[in-house]
Amino acid sequence: MESQHEEEQHIAVSRLLHAQTHIWNHIFSFINSMSLKSAIDLNIPDIIHKHAKPMPLPLLISSLQIHPSKSPNIYRLMRILTHSGFFSQSQEGYVLTDASTLLVKDNPLSVYPYLLAMMDPVLIKPWFHLASWFKNDDPTPFCTGHGKKFWEYTGDEALLNRLFNEAMASDARLVSSVVIGKFKRVFEGLECVVDVGGGTGSMAKVIAKAFPEMKCTVFDLPHVVEGQRDSGNLKFVGGDMFQDAPLPPADAILLKWILHDWNDEECMKILKKCKESLASKGKDGKLIIIDIIMKENYEKGDMDDESIMETQLYFDMLMMVLLTGKERNEKEWAKLIFSAGFSDYKITPVLGLRSLIEFEHFSSLYETWPE
Ligand SMILES: C[S@@+](CC[C@H](N)C(=O)[O-])C[C@H]1O[C@@H](n2cnc3c(N)ncnc32)[C@H](O)[C@@H]1O
Repeated sequence: MESQHEEEQHIAVSRLLHAQTHIWNHIFSFINSMSLKSAIDLNIPDIIHKHAKPMPLPLLISSLQIHPSKSPNIYRLMRILTHSGFFSQSQEGYVLTDASTLLVKDNPLSVYPYLLAMMDPVLIKPWFHLASWFKNDDPTPFCTGHGKKFWEYTGDEALLNRLFNEAMASDARLVSSVVIGKFKRVFEGLECVVDVGGGTGSMAKVIAKAFPEMKCTVFDLPHVVEGQRDSGNLKFVGGDMFQDAPLPPADAILLKWILHDWNDEECMKILKKCKESLASKGKDGKLIIIDIIMKENYEKGDMDDESIMETQLYFDMLMMVLLTGKERNEKEWAKLIFSAGFSDYKITPVLGLRSLIEFEHFSSLYETWPE
């Protein structure tokens, strides 16, 4: 039998080793994302998908465009990605999981463009400047790393502009499929919707198709809407939501993944412009926000809850590093939007991670928020 002293020593050693593993797993967690990115660059999900049945390792290797000397290493890449849930293995070979199916390029809801943009070196570099940004007065670590703001960079660099717009379009395709599939009522009865910061119009195209009587306008920066063609009930307007020119008049404004990009002061300017656009139609308009509502607590041990919380925390940090924004909890959202003169909100969870917030009425502008 272990003496009490031995037992205490045993617990201390096991805590020490647990702490070391915890640190190592955090130091090396970039290996998960880099391994995934290389599998995507090597087209592995597409190759397994095209094979349409479990793919034996030798066949997978012979289908890849790699140097023969590297063949013995493919199983190592597949092993870590199987461990992290991107592939599973049967006796006959590798198959895709739900996660890797969503990375197949010809999946209409593919998030492959999102991965490519988020893992581009231009977006990774600012993370190396996070600590120095805390000590300087730059608006974002992105500015510290690149010497200009994110939206200036996308305006100057056509390649990043394209990558980023495609990433957003892929997300909008996925979200619009859920919103129009399950929550179509949100847009029912509306005559004229403006998607402010609507990118290249993926979301608006789905809404315009679902509601042929409705006029849909995508408003975004000129370099984003450049080359996009108006068609039927859909049109594109280039402009800057912070400039004096009014936003196109609307009876509903959609802000999908816009307000989390900006700090409270900047959001107030955007919301004021939205309110003016809605008021110009002479009635109370509707504000439709699709964004994250930060969970404040979660069930420890509930894997879904824990993983949503983790994703939300990642997004909050991403907003701090690339932009001036942040993720907000329900109280922060309500305070922000009530302060801009909207009231009566309703929240509908859309995709676990994100919610749809509808503000149906105007209240007196800059009303004090009841603490
Ligand atoms: C995170 S993306 C969201 C795009 C789209 N709403 C979606 O969810 O797919 C933010 C969008 O805001 C646009 N944006 C940034 N600054 C802007 C400005 N000053 N005026 C208008 N749009 C702007 C960007 O070009 C980009 O398309």
